[in-house]
Amino acid sequence: MGFEELAAQVEDLKLFTPGPTYVRRDLMVQAAKMPNFSHRDEQIIVRLKPIYANLRKMAEVDDSYHIILMPGSVSTAMETSVTSLIGDDDKVLSVSMGSFGDMYHGMTVANRKNSEKLSFEPGQGIDLNVLEDKLKEMERNGEKPSVVTFTHNETSTGVEVDVVAVSQVIKKYGALPLVDAVSAFGATRTGIQGNVAMYSTATQKCMGLDAGFGIAIVSEEALERAKYLVENKKCYPPSILDLTKHAATAKGFMTGTTPNCTLINALYLQTDYIVNTEGVQERYARHKALKEMTHDWIDSLGNGYQLFADKNVASNSVTALQTPPSMKMQDLNPVKLKLREEKFVMSTGLPPMNKALEAQGKGVIIRIPHMGDMTKDRLSEYLNAMKKYLPSS
Ligand SMILES: Cc1ncc(COP(=O)(O)O)c(C=O)c1O
Repeated sequence: MGFEELAAQVEDLKLFTPGPTYVRRDLMVQAAKMPNFSHRDEQIIVRLKPIYANLRKMAEVDDSYHIILMPGSVSTAMETSVTSLIGDDDKVLSVSMGSFGDMYHGMTVANRKNSEKLSFEPGQGIDLNVLEDKLKEMERNGEKPSVVTFTHNETSTGVEVDVVAVSQVIKKYGALPLVDAVSAFGATRTGIQGNVAMYSTATQKCMGLDAGFGIAIVSEEALERAKYLVENKKCYPPSILDLTKHAATAKGFMTGTTPNCTLINALYLQTDYIVNTEGVQERYARHKALKEMTHDWIDSLGNGYQLFADKNVASNSVTALQTPPSMKMQDLNPVKLKLREEKFVMSTGLPPMNKALEAQGKGVIIRIPHMGDMTKDRLSEYLNAMKKYLPSS
């Protein structure tokens, strides 16, 4: 089969999924024009040095933090934080605001860590007083956690928290903050410096690229702890999830296992674009403007449609629209199909979250991502199309 015939079989879709997200076509073409390379040749260093320098600028961290690229996804980085930074004798507290906070907690359970979960109502942020009370209570009970995990931006509910404020409460009680930031990095300030022990993210959301790498930003203190735990047999990370091994290869601007060379080429181009063409602060401002545009559109819907998240913690990268209570999950199917006819791929809320909302007699969620290289024009084209198909309750 020739190229034309093969290419005719695939559709050019407009992705409105909160990862994988829209990737600029010109970027993909440019990356595809670059040669592949061996990951043990100096050509990987030529690419990873500027990539790491640009990631460092995006993260706003100094040399006391290590930047590490891990073939895989954010789950690879998150699970590495669990296997390498939580000793078998340690206690860990996972703070959850939704499905992905639960996922981080689930990883601590699957890895047989001594873990506990503190949950906040979906749509709400982390209440610092409640968190502090929990940490005090654990300390009183002799269950002081060494590590606390939380999510910078909860993709299931469209809620973003203040990383600095949350980390400071955690640090006040002597614990290390581990943060899942996959739907925040590239859309909003990180707040890492001096606060976070390990910040895990990936390429396929606000960075506007395809999936293929987890990205870890790790403090020197956290890396020292990982070395101490391994050397003293206080934890046994599998070699593919061993932070000390990843850090050692990253130091030489290489990856531990064979990486996706095309994605490295794209990352080389995209991190340069973000830092030197668009500008990091300008990128954040664009995400904020897209968020505000989406909120205004929700206000214009009326008929019981509303923003799911508390407005003061609403995410810069993804908005959760809540339908009127009369609408059920199955009522979203025709909307999805109609949009698909126009080549839009729509995202509902995650099924367990929508099922729970339905069971409580509440409206269900439709997620509207406005992350990565999304533009006002693309977003308004989508919002106008969706407005045509949403039932008027
Ligand atoms: C906040 C958050 N954490 C973790 C994940 C898991 O990502 P992956 O499956 O790419 O590892 C996602 C995916 O959407 C997410 O939104």
